[in-house]
Amino acid sequence: MLEAKEIHAYYGLSHILFGVSLEVKKGEIVCVLGRNGAGKTTIMRSIMGLTPPRQGQVIFKGKDITRTPVHKIAQMGMGFVADNRRIFPDLTVEENLDIASRGGQQKGAWNKEKIFTLFPALKNITSRRGGYCSGGEQQMLAVARALMGNPDFLLLDEPTEGLAPLVVRELMEQIGRLREEGLSILMAEQNVRSALKLANRVYVIDRGEVRFQGTVEELEANEEISKKYLLV
Ligand SMILES: Nc1ncnc2c1ncn2[C@@H]1O[C@H](COP(=O)(O)OP(=O)(O)OP(=O)(O)O)[C@@H](O)[C@H]1O
Ligand SMILES: [Mg+2]
Repeated sequence: MLEAKEIHAYYGLSHILFGVSLEVKKGEIVCVLGRNGAGKTTIMRSIMGLTPPRQGQVIFKGKDITRTPVHKIAQMGMGFVADNRRIFPDLTVEENLDIASRGGQQKGAWNKEKIFTLFPALKNITSRRGGYCSGGEQQMLAVARALMGNPDFLLLDEPTEGLAPLVVRELMEQIGRLREEGLSILMAEQNVRSALKLANRVYVIDRGEVRFQGTVEELEANEEISKKYLLV
């Protein structure tokens, strides 16, 4: 589904990613773990084309998208939920969803009905303005907005950041259900424990390099990596 090959990314003159390679297979949830400033967001931005890599390649569904503009990548089926929850605070929940709709008519396409089945909490607050929603509701709305574009691959940048433990658990279950719906997901997380419950495989990033890759079991068996690069 997605492959990053030896990507190098920069902000201006600062070299941030140093030859990062990673892969997400169809139907997988893959987690990128790492501390503050490790480079998780930059990996997501590089894949989505927001901070295109200066070296290396990004392959999506067999096509090289390294130099493809963001909107084209989105049209190819990639959705991005940024860490700053880009919802419109002055629009209602329903308006936020309507504006994100790409009106897919195909079978199984996301519409408000389907969104409310996944996120029942949103159904009760359709007329509330985004800015008045709780952190958890805003995060659900941000994911819901991405789903309205009918992606089959989702980038989720720290979806659980700042949320209460109960809300984290609920959101993680909902993300798990997206995998059952057939989506493939690359998710950045600092919330290691809940990420590991969901992930098929993990990559540990530190200072712009992959320090570990493997299954959840392999990571859990590797105390050294967890101690060195993660806050656990
Ligand atoms: N716009 C920018 N300009 C310059 N440097 C940046 C910019 N954004 C991030 N950086 C730097 O790039 C490095 C990686 O940042 P990045 O945001 O990718 O990390 P992260 O793993 O997502 O961290 P966090 O957990 O805080 O979200 C950091 O050293 C950061 O200071
Ligand atoms: Mg980040």
